[in-house]
Amino acid sequence: MKKFEEKKFNIPTLTGISAKTVEEHLKLYAGYVKHSNLIIEKIAEMSADAEKNAYAMGELQRRFGFEFDGMRNHEFYFKHFEGGSAALAPDSALKTAIASEWGSFDAWLARFKAVALTRGIGWAILYYDKNNDRLVNAWVDEQHLGHLTGISPVLMLDMWEHSFVTDYQPSGKKQYVEDFFSNLNWQTVEQNFSDAKRA
Ligand SMILES: [Fe+2]
Repeated sequence: MKKFEEKKFNIPTLTGISAKTVEEHLKLYAGYVKHSNLIIEKIAEMSADAEKNAYAMGELQRRFGFEFDGMRNHEFYFKHFEGGSAALAPDSALKTAIASEWGSFDAWLARFKAVALTRGIGWAILYYDKNNDRLVNAWVDEQHLGHLTGISPVLMLDMWEHSFVTDYQPSGKKQYVEDFFSNLNWQTVEQNFSDAKRA
């Protein structure tokens, strides 16, 4: 049976976010990969007696979205740090698209940071919707509740407490968001945007 593979990330020293937090966080990511594979395996096993196992298989299937999105979301998140901090070029296609959607890059950034501070655990996401050639901000609860169908993530910010609480305490959530942007490699975000446009 085909398996989801755990990806490896080359993460430099970050501002504010400790190596220990990254190490522990990568273990959580590995757990999502493991459990995505396990669910598919378990459902295949249980299919041998599909009638008897129908209820349990249904619950496992429901859980799959949580595990799969937990895996995929973290792959976007950790990749944002690879290569170290890099600015968004003023004349880049992404910066132009952001400004045309929100009036200015700074207006978008303020809005996105506010989305990130949504109460509860989840993700702040900038998506590109190819159908309408536009960018959209979203908040996703947990790993999977509220993902938008058929559009591509461009920027993904993990707002679960495990991402920041050891380094910032619960009250330091806002500073974590600031530091995320200090550590962000915008070239990767631009690449995500151009991949999404081509997809
Ligand atoms: Fe996470």
